[in-house]
Amino acid sequence: MPKRFHLAWFTNFTAGAWDATFTHGGSPWDGKFYVEFAQALERACFDYIMLEDTLMVSEAYRGTAEATLKYGLQVPKHDPVPLAAMIAAATSRLGVVATMSTMAWPPFMLARVSTTIDHIAGGRFGWNIVTSGEDIAAQNFGLDKLPPRELRYAMADEYMDLVNQLFDAWEPDAVVMDRDRGIYADWRKVHPIDFRGEFFKCRGPLNTVPSPQRRPTFIQAGGSPRGRAFAAKHADSVIAPGRDIQGMKEYRDDVRAHAAKFGRNPDDIKVLWLVYPTFGETTREAREAYRCLVTSSAFVEASLAASGTTSDIDFSQYDLDKPLPGRLTTNGEQGSLDRFQQWGSGKTLRQLAAERFDSELDLIGSPDDVADKMAQAVEEIGGDGFLISTPFQRTGRRFINEVCEGLVPALQRRGLVREAYTRSTLRETLSEFRARTGRGWS
Ligand SMILES: Cc1cc2nc3c(=O)[nH]c(=O)nc-3n(C[C@H](O)[C@H](O)[C@H](O)COP(=O)(O)O)c2cc1C
Repeated sequence: MPKRFHLAWFTNFTAGAWDATFTHGGSPWDGKFYVEFAQALERACFDYIMLEDTLMVSEAYRGTAEATLKYGLQVPKHDPVPLAAMIAAATSRLGVVATMSTMAWPPFMLARVSTTIDHIAGGRFGWNIVTSGEDIAAQNFGLDKLPPRELRYAMADEYMDLVNQLFDAWEPDAVVMDRDRGIYADWRKVHPIDFRGEFFKCRGPLNTVPSPQRRPTFIQAGGSPRGRAFAAKHADSVIAPGRDIQGMKEYRDDVRAHAAKFGRNPDDIKVLWLVYPTFGETTREAREAYRCLVTSSAFVEASLAASGTTSDIDFSQYDLDKPLPGRLTTNGEQGSLDRFQQWGSGKTLRQLAAERFDSELDLIGSPDDVADKMAQAVEEIGGDGFLISTPFQRTGRRFINEVCEGLVPALQRRGLVREAYTRSTLRETLSEFRARTGRGWS
């Protein structure tokens, strides 16, 4: 039996590849480019498209918004929730995942909008659960600074308890639609939740009809020990950087061990590795394209600005041609910072910036080369599939074609990914391929 894995795509509602040689064409802001993008993924039978999100104009680099705005990378960034609804309405099988922060969304609104989009999507909506990682984002929501990580996750755990109660507040048979008796819903089967926690209060019930999945598919990317425990407790799919093989093995084992402690079947959590493949007609051509990209001064500066965005660290204060003076820490994304700083490697800051998207999986080459390396990676490391992206999410039509018309057919020829959808909801689609306990696939 072929050993198959899942595919998803990591993007956001930004200007994308606005100045690339092969751009996406036209303005992205009416959402139509993203709809066509999603339709291409659906033709290629991806599990889901994930719309990343953050809620600020970062000033981490040089203490101003200059680099953030100049490179148009993380800003402008439009809201993923209406875009998810638009994509959901224009597709029929692909999962659609929007990022919403527990810091920004009141639980009642999150549960309500998730239910609404899951209906529009016919049960294909997912929520990427994030707690936000930047003080400057917290300041957009009435806070002076971000709560410490442990507290953020304690709040998020309570938040999950609350929204899950809201999703269950309507009994499965509450909607009767009995024309003869003139009854839409049986009021005795719709219950207030009267939630009173340490951080949140909510009366409930939701004023929406339960959706096909009842609750959206939960996606999470906790990297810290606390974040991994949170992910293992709640997530249907965990997304994690596919950077170093040892780290990937440890991460997956850890998430699975946490899941077992929570009484969950570890196989129910699909771990997808975030990767940035680069394609060419030949491996040589692809390597040259990658080298040209990452050594340009604009890439190096954008890389430093982007690392600053998620860590609140101003990298402009350090000499580009020297190693960092010590191991840096953050209340934001410490795992991403650690991968970036490669502490102890002796590399200069310029090298670190150029290597921001490097991976030991080395997914650089022709579609056939990359497909073979992906197959080897899952054999060796385990995991349930890949989350494909481009550096800085600069996605244009050319790269979408390289993946959907090059890589995916190469994977399909090897029997590694699906050629047709067989399930209807996102949660069901994600459960199509069962990971074996231990290494390998079934
Ligand atoms: C693949 C991936 C996608 C992520 N997407 C977002 C996002 O859209 N918005 C956000 O605020 N954080 C995002 N994060 C950050 C995570 O939610 C998380 O905060 C981070 O991995 C650090 O883990 P920690 O919170 O346990 O320290 C993402 C992380 C990864 C690895």
